[in-house]
Formats: sequence, C-alpha cells, structure tokens
Amino acid sequence: MIDQKLCDALNKQINAEMFSSYLYLSMAAWFETKSLSGFANWMRVQSEEEMFHAMKMFDYVNERGGRVILDTIEKPEAEWDSPLAVIEAVLKHEELVTRLINDLVDVSMEIRDHAGTYFLQWYVEEQVEEEANVGTLLERMRMIADDSAGMFALDMEMAKRTFTPPSSE
Ligand code: FEO
Repeated sequence: MIDQKLCDALNKQINAEMFSSYLYLSMAAWFETKSLSGFANWMRVQSEEEMFHAMKMFDYVNERGGRVILDTIEKPEAEWDSPLAVIEAVLKHEELVTRLINDLVDVSMEIRDHAGTYFLQWYVEEQVEEEANVGTLLERMRMIADDSAGMFALDMEMAKRTFTPPSSE
C-alpha cells in the first residue's frame, strides 16, 4: 500500500500533467488562428503526451493500492504575442514541471519508498528530453526570426509530428 503522503503528491502531479495537456491544447488552438497548422499539430501531439504522463501516474497510483482523486484543472492562458512567445512559454512551463518532478522524487526518497523513486526516474528522464527538444526548437525559431520562408518551412516540418506513446520502461 502506498504511503498517503506520496499518494497525495502523485495526485497533485496528475493534476499538473493534465493542466500541461490543457495548456498545450490552448496553444494548439492559438496556432490554428494564426494559420500555422504545423505548429498547431505539434502542440496537439504535445498535449497528448502530457495526457499520457498523467495516465501513467493514474495507473501507478491504482497499482499501488492508492486512491486517485481528480481535482479542478486550472484555466490555461489563451493569448500570446507571437509564435516565439508561445515556445518560450513552453520551455518555461517544462522547467516548472521538472522542478515539480524533482519535488516528487524528494517526497518518495524522504519516506524511503524505493519503488516510487524508481518509477519516478522515468519522469526525470522524460523531462531532460522535453527540455532539450523545446530548447532546440526555440533556438531554431530565434535563428529564423522574421524570415517568413523559414517559418513556413518549419511549420511544414512541425506538421509531421505524430503521437507515439513514449516507451514506458
Ligand atoms: Fe509531463 Fe512535459 O511534462
């Protein structure tokens, strides 16, 4: 049976992952209004990944005999100044999620829940990948700056992203 303190912390993180999914979906909607359907697709896939993160945790709480309690999902932002501002906001948000995951690992280590700490390593590694991917995208966008041909080419590339459930091991 899972310790209540870790269970509560995991429930909080399930909510944070669902908020991330909602935030990225809001960004997808924003890109749709700017006729950047490739970016919108990329954000939509990003949103699906976040839901996957939430559900992986949902399943884990159940597997450990804990109780999943869902909470209200905060309203996400809906307006940004530019495509660059959106991607900057994504990186900032992922950095926040990394801090939340680290806090969660601290809780599991504090109560010496080794299985929980092991489970959370997947998220630790996933955050490294997420921050790296968004960081690279941001650098490319800064290079492109106001070059509309560059933006058009990048949008075409972003359209190709598809959702494949991340490896769960
Ligand atoms: Fe679930 Fe992008 O962190």
